[in-house]
Amino acid sequence: MCTEQSVPVAGKGKIISSKQIQESIYLVDTELNEEFQNLPNPGQFYMLKTVPSDVYLSRPISVYRSYKTSAGSVRVEFLILKKGRGTEELCTARSETAIKIIGPLGNGFTKQNSCGRKTALVGGGIGVAPVAGFAQSLADGSYDFFACFKHGTYGLDYIKPESVSISTDDGSCGVKGMLPAIFSEKDAAEYAAVYACGPEPMLKYVQKTCRAAGVPCFLSLEARMACGLGACLGCTVKTTAGNKRCCKDGPVFSGDEIVFGERK
Ligand SMILES: Cc1cc2nc3c(=O)[nH]c(=O)nc-3n(C[C@H](O)[C@H](O)[C@H](O)COP(=O)(O)OP(=O)(O)OC[C@H]3O[C@@H](n4cnc5c(N)ncnc54)[C@H](O)[C@@H]3O)c2cc1C
Ligand code: FES
Repeated sequence: MCTEQSVPVAGKGKIISSKQIQESIYLVDTELNEEFQNLPNPGQFYMLKTVPSDVYLSRPISVYRSYKTSAGSVRVEFLILKKGRGTEELCTARSETAIKIIGPLGNGFTKQNSCGRKTALVGGGIGVAPVAGFAQSLADGSYDFFACFKHGTYGLDYIKPESVSISTDDGSCGVKGMLPAIFSEKDAAEYAAVYACGPEPMLKYVQKTCRAAGVPCFLSLEARMACGLGACLGCTVKTTAGNKRCCKDGPVFSGDEIVFGERK
């Protein structure tokens, strides 16, 4: 997957607000300092931590929404699942808390030439964030959106698909079940391409389904990251072309090249 990469900047910003939108899910609105001039591409991420912080390493978090204010500063919204210490600090930070921020990082999603055919966007859990961010760069109604959650929904406020299909593990919204309940090989065959982010079993299913349907797919992967800049080789993923760095060569890879189950 080849995309023009913007030059990452290391700097500071501040939390404007952090709002709990579901159990353990927070919408964190940030404003970046003037050293950040460029908006991120869809699917890119930043390394973030609060200042001060109890954690040593910044945490990789995808862009959910970004825009420039009338004063010219970059605002970035993140959807964050409160998991361990690093994400807890970001989710529970008060307004005006300073943050250390590096980015934008990674290749992000690039829209392939679809010759007028629709594309499918698939998000699972917190993986909905970068896919919904990508959706905001696409023409209204040019894609269908498939979203899977454990319970309830989030992250769907800014998408404008032709249709949206939802599944929940507990049946609280949409169809009860996981992605196979709403997205089959027959569905995949309708699209020019499929773009997805979510838990690894879901991505494996998207890869298998698209392969069977003969449709290209692009998958945003997660790996534990230390530098986020391609220097430490801590985020290696196995591909058909050898080991690649999730932070620098990804996080979005062609479904054809990912070798699941053999990640380093
Ligand atoms: C490219 C990318 C984009 C991401 N986007 C989002 C997002 O938009 N929203 C969101 O909530 N989460 C996102 N994540 C996952 C998020 O980075 C981890 O949940 C977070 O780092 C966990 O940190 P912690 O301190 O809360 O948890 P801990 O479990 O205490 O973390 C301990 C260490 O493991 C690493 N780690 C743990 N789980 C993960 C994981 N799943 N992925 C990567 N590193 C992990 C941490 O960075 C840290 O170094 C993304 C991950 C990647 C790689
Ligand atoms: S996190 Fe250091 S190379 Fe990817």
